[in-house]
Amino acid sequence: MASLAYSLFILSLFTFTLLNPVCTELDEYLFSFGDGLYDAGNAKFIYPDKYLPSYHHPYGTTFFDYPTGRFSDGRTVVDFVAENVSLPRIPPFKNKEANFTYGANFASEGATASDSNPLIDFRSQIRDFGELKLEWAVQLVNVTELARRLKKAVYLISFGADDYLNYEIPSEASREQLESIVDVVLGNISDRIKELYDFGARKFVVENVAPLGLIPFIKQTSDNSTLFYELASLHAMKLPQILEKIQDGYLFPEFNYTVFNYFGIIKEIIDAPGEHGFKYGDIACCGNSTYRGQACGFLDYEFCVCGNKTEYLFFDGTHNTDAANNLLAELMWDKESGFISPYGVKDFFPSPTTIQTLLTEATALG
Ligand SMILES: *[C@@H]1O[C@H](CO)[C@@H](O)[C@H](O)[C@H]1NC(C)=O
Ligand SMILES: *[C@@H]1O[C@H](CO)[C@@H](O)[C@H](O)[C@H]1NC(C)=O
Ligand SMILES: *[C@@H]1O[C@H](CO)[C@@H](O)[C@H](O)[C@H]1NC(C)=O
Ligand SMILES: *[C@@H]1O[C@H](CO)[C@@H](O)[C@H](O)[C@H]1NC(C)=O
Ligand SMILES: *[C@@H]1O[C@H](CO)[C@@H](O)[C@H](O)[C@H]1NC(C)=O
Ligand SMILES: *[C@@H]1O[C@H](CO)[C@@H](O)[C@H](O)[C@H]1NC(C)=O
Ligand SMILES: *[C@@H]1O[C@H](CO)[C@@H](O)[C@H](O)[C@H]1NC(C)=O
Ligand SMILES: *[C@@H]1O[C@H](CO)[C@@H](O)[C@H](O)[C@H]1NC(C)=O
Repeated sequence: MASLAYSLFILSLFTFTLLNPVCTELDEYLFSFGDGLYDAGNAKFIYPDKYLPSYHHPYGTTFFDYPTGRFSDGRTVVDFVAENVSLPRIPPFKNKEANFTYGANFASEGATASDSNPLIDFRSQIRDFGELKLEWAVQLVNVTELARRLKKAVYLISFGADDYLNYEIPSEASREQLESIVDVVLGNISDRIKELYDFGARKFVVENVAPLGLIPFIKQTSDNSTLFYELASLHAMKLPQILEKIQDGYLFPEFNYTVFNYFGIIKEIIDAPGEHGFKYGDIACCGNSTYRGQACGFLDYEFCVCGNKTEYLFFDGTHNTDAANNLLAELMWDKESGFISPYGVKDFFPSPTTIQTLLTEATALG
């Protein structure tokens, strides 16, 4: 009986396949907001006349063979997420020639959550998103379809590190002072996310910040790295709380979020690189001085570049290698990794019915 049902199922599956050749259009959408960890090359369009290291050797040398404006030897976490849902690379929004059918990347190196730079900060990235929404509205005409796409889209968010790196923190700052600094950053992240909700966004993947006191740039430049570590640790602790608060408020009934514990995984790799397939967690691949914490790709300073980039967590003093971003995206994908909660990124992309999933179901039935 079971095997007859199985045969019939396979037969109908076969017919289904014949009648539905693999040319259905993709119906997934991805947006990203944030700093250099997510930047895909917006800067060139913002500062056309400036020398920008991320558009020069050795950035981009691993995967693309040429620098793209990404702060990595290869891809960012956003690229890996897009790949996994069969989306084309999500283009930087400032590139007016790009095709934004499946989303846009608003992230920019140096961008803060609080207002600081009206060209790149979170508020300006949301202004750009508003512009994109208008473009979509014009193209789609149908407002129901526009709302459906914005709601279906996944929004990746990485903010906070640059707020803390920019801060002039008194070295004898009390715990209360540090907390109030963190509250201002998180308050702005929260406010901006609510604005995105009002534009129609629903599914947010928010990552916290690296254990800043342990990254090559801070170890090389700060005389009190403990302060930065404390700020990052407080940020990591409080971020889930502010998101939960948005969800609990009656103003945002469809709000959905998950938090990627970037702090936790980066700390773990720095402490025990070998356990995650790396050789070096404390020193960058590209840069100058003891930790190669600065000057990667600079014109006016000498810097070194490592041989085998896949052995390193950090590509430069603050950003990761292609190999590390690949691992991070994998850990984000599935909540079973223990580094993302309460959902994995894959839960926000309910899988389209592929032949593979049908076969798996058939096997389960048989
Ligand atoms: C943008 O990409 C979509 C999907 O691939 C395609 O249908 C559309 O024609 C493209 N638009 C332009 C202007 O090339
Ligand atoms: C508008 O979009 C909705 C949702 O995608 C769809 O059901 C409806 O048929 C569309 N209306 C028109 C006029 O195309
Ligand atoms: C570094 O910052 C911590 C936390 O505020 C503080 O307790 C410590 O005294 C500072 N150390 C120095 C050397 O300033
Ligand atoms: C956002 O940051 C600004 C400083 O740029 C601060 O004055 C404001 O209070 C913050 N907003 C919230 C809600 O914390
Ligand atoms: C490293 O580069 C920075 C510029 O980012 C420069 O200020 C610093 O002096 C350099 N350090 C050394 C030891 O060359
Ligand atoms: C680079 O390092 C990785 C990871 O340690 C290793 O698997 C690979 O064989 C190395 N490649 C070369 C060319 O040495
Ligand atoms: C992509 O999806 C596969 C299968 O679900 C998963 O095993 C893998 O970790 C994912 N990779 C990334 C980079 O998200
Ligand atoms: C949030 O997303 C998860 C995973 O897709 C889903 O199971 C859950 O029902 C959603 N919650 C809300 C409030 O939409």
